[in-house]
Amino acid sequence: MDTQKLMIVGGKRIEGEIRVHGAKNSALPLLSAAALIADGECILHNCPRLTDVDAACRILNHIGVKCKRDGSSVITAADNITCHEVPVKLMREMRSSIVFLGAVLGRTGQCRLSFPGGCELGPRPIDLHIAALREMGAEIREEHGYLECSAPDGLKGADISLTFPSVGATENIILAAVLAKGTTLIHNAAREPEIADLTEFLTKCGAKIKGAGSDVITVEGVEKLHGCEHSVIPDRIAAATYLCCAACAGGELVLSGVNAEHLGVVIPLMQTMGCRIYTFGRDSIYINVRGRLKAPLTIRTMPYPGFPTDAQALIMAACTCADGITVFVENIFENRYRHVSELLRMGCSIKVEGKVAIVQGVKRLSGTELVATDLRGGAALVAAALGAEGVSVISEIHHIDRGYENIEQALRSVGADIKRK
Ligand code: EPZ
Repeated sequence: MDTQKLMIVGGKRIEGEIRVHGAKNSALPLLSAAALIADGECILHNCPRLTDVDAACRILNHIGVKCKRDGSSVITAADNITCHEVPVKLMREMRSSIVFLGAVLGRTGQCRLSFPGGCELGPRPIDLHIAALREMGAEIREEHGYLECSAPDGLKGADISLTFPSVGATENIILAAVLAKGTTLIHNAAREPEIADLTEFLTKCGAKIKGAGSDVITVEGVEKLHGCEHSVIPDRIAAATYLCCAACAGGELVLSGVNAEHLGVVIPLMQTMGCRIYTFGRDSIYINVRGRLKAPLTIRTMPYPGFPTDAQALIMAACTCADGITVFVENIFENRYRHVSELLRMGCSIKVEGKVAIVQGVKRLSGTELVATDLRGGAALVAAALGAEGVSVISEIHHIDRGYENIEQALRSVGADIKRK
């Protein structure tokens, strides 16, 4: 039971600079890819200190990949893998541990992992992962909550068309294909920046991959991969989170260590709301928020480069006090409005009907006791509390620690009255 809470006294303007940590959703597939490297060490710089990353390191150590943290880097060595099973306890710690399937199967020819539980966002099917790996020659049986996967003759290249540009399925196919016999094509591949980061890492290790960032990716299997050094891309969702914190609290903020391009439509959308944002230098974003924001009318979450589903809760927090009505359409996950019931406790006006949420801006929210429901929903409560009248106390904050490095330290450093208790 998580007893830690975040206590936030709302109403303090934000003023200062935050350095954004490396991307959780890149570090996880990169750590999985490390299991493929039979020859030499991998050094992953800018690897964020997150509980999900710690869980991924525990999975690597369990299967025999040496994995240790050295400051902001993680060093792995996978010259021999002693186990191909990811036990249920470790699988349950992190839903995205399905991303180990492709790498362990591709490296050892077998993999046993417990069916990844659903999560707060609804059932998290893996049918696209399984169908693709079967096309590559894997035999996959689902029994007693476990996936028994084997490819006794090794995996072979295949021509795969995804019915949905699933990020995880695209990653798993790439991880399975880099050591497969022959060439694999992925049509309707995900185009998220984390895919390009994964393929850049694998290419440095000797893999032959083309097309990352487009919807057709080609992987030509090779015999063996060697170690390399790589720096994890900045976390675009953490960057969007801190921009939304400034939008809720008002004030001005510089984000450094970011790649503004990866934020896609988030920046122009916040500019239409009245946030003054511009990028400068190689890796910095400046935001200045004064007065009441304007509602952005409609927000539809889409696969990259559309509006990211992971920023939906965050921008909703900013819309709760914007002038006007915002219509949200959540097209990616079935159940991604769990933060709404908590935001309603703060006095906002939101109506949810299926995948649509209608937010009517109110003058101001009021602080109260809140419960984080999931990673990004929890972060949205933090953002909303910064601008609310009075004190908010947020519990179940282990959800937030999965994806944000010391969120309270980052926000306190720019003037927020927030502490962990
Ligand atoms: C990744 O999840 C991210 N997680 C998610 O971030 C992100 O929201 C999501 O991509 C979309 O961008 C990591 O990278 C660790 P999907 P993933 O496969 O790979 C359905 C966060 O907050 N689907 O693109 O699980 C699925 O149910 C997390 O950092 C199938 O139907 O996302 C969902 O509705 C949350 N069958 C949709 O596709 C499948 O086999 C998108 O899923 C796979 C997915």
